[in-house]
Amino acid sequence: MLVSAKDMLNKARDGKYAVGQFNINNLEWTKAILLTAQECNSPVILGVSEGAGKYMCGYNTVVGMTKGMFETLKITVPVALHLDHGTFEGAKACINAGFSSIMFDGSHLPFEENLAKTTALVNTCDVLGLSLEAEVGAIGGEEDGVVGSGECADPDECKKIADLGVTMLAAGIGNIHGKYPANWPGLSFETLEKVKAKVGDMPLVLHGGTGIPDDQIKKAISLGVAKINVNTECQLSFQEATRKYIEEGKDLQGKGFDPRKLLAPGFEAIKAKVKEKMELFGSVNKA
Ligand code: 13P
Repeated sequence: MLVSAKDMLNKARDGKYAVGQFNINNLEWTKAILLTAQECNSPVILGVSEGAGKYMCGYNTVVGMTKGMFETLKITVPVALHLDHGTFEGAKACINAGFSSIMFDGSHLPFEENLAKTTALVNTCDVLGLSLEAEVGAIGGEEDGVVGSGECADPDECKKIADLGVTMLAAGIGNIHGKYPANWPGLSFETLEKVKAKVGDMPLVLHGGTGIPDDQIKKAISLGVAKINVNTECQLSFQEATRKYIEEGKDLQGKGFDPRKLLAPGFEAIKAKVKEKMELFGSVNKA
């Protein structure tokens, strides 16, 4: 059964480790992440952006695929199926489709509107037992075609959103999606500390997990980050492994590639990447 992310994140916060959110794009991605979580005995969050949801034929398909795999692969570790950077409409659609966790990203809206829409979702998610992530201070970089530059969240705004009773809070601390530019100054631990001081026990979420140096990841966890999102790094591993396989041309034999064999190296590459991250985040054997 898919679960809310609430318990796994509260345990991570108390145990000073972080649960990884890995974004899914297709069947291979989902299977690779679920199997790795089981092998590592680690809780895991499957992230679904609205774009990926559309690509996979809508949220009902995503829920059906994930639940089916969960059963067939005999997964016993805690797994949350989470909307990533949802709009208000997207959040409602995922709630209806059976997601166990929702992110409403109102960070680009006027703050009062972010507050009002997050409030409405807190009530719905509470009744249904779903976890809810809110965002303050837009995360930079590109996500589904939307580009922003890494903001630092206002700690007072973070407190107002946290006090609504969300499960977890993504606060911008200079992090961005995708690769970090060479002149990136690093995470703003000063902002993280100020946010943490205002929001108390609220598990914090670090987006843009790709390319953040390991020591900064560990420091962020020590300061209250309990969930870390990784997408681009899995995509790059998948792409590299697939390209290599095609270049080697082993499978051609005059009839073209067998799609299952073609996708196998990328599948293995994602498994290896997810394991590496679970070890770094400290979630191995924490299921
Ligand atoms: P990256 O693509 O930088 O790993 O970020 C993923 C993310 O934050 C998804 O919300």
